[in-house]
Amino acid sequence: MAERIPIASDHAGFPLKQALSARLRELGFEVQDLGTGSTDSTDYADYAHPLAQEVSRGEVKRGVLMCGTGLGMSYTANRYPHVRAAVAWAPEIAALARQHNDANVLVLPARFLSDEEAVRILETWLNTPFEGGRHERRVEKIEREESK
Ligand code: RB5
Repeated sequence: MAERIPIASDHAGFPLKQALSARLRELGFEVQDLGTGSTDSTDYADYAHPLAQEVSRGEVKRGVLMCGTGLGMSYTANRYPHVRAAVAWAPEIAALARQHNDANVLVLPARFLSDEEAVRILETWLNTPFEGGRHERRVEKIEREESK
């Protein structure tokens, strides 16, 4: 059965969302498009919340968000338990976000990437495993209130 991947953007990310959705379908994923549906001005949090809730509840393994800078989407998604939303602007960042941080949400700064660059980042994030080991302990500490 195909893995379902939710994807969402605001107006600034809408054109890139269309391109990445098409690529995900080509790769065999079931794409769950959570909006927005056009370049009409809208509010990023309205789209980040539903996607982050799905990831947080474990209903999906991972999801993809984009807005102009990636920042508003990442702030919103990272409010949810078990969500690790990483803004990535290069394939190397996406690889490290998986290897070291076990990022389960990829956030793209749509206004600063070409479609081709974003596809390379997406594919790197999809295909890079978490390294575990010492990074497992560090990732576990993210949700602990106390330090050390
Ligand atoms: C929209 O103009 C822009 O503020 C938004 O896409 C995003 O960059 C916010 O973090």
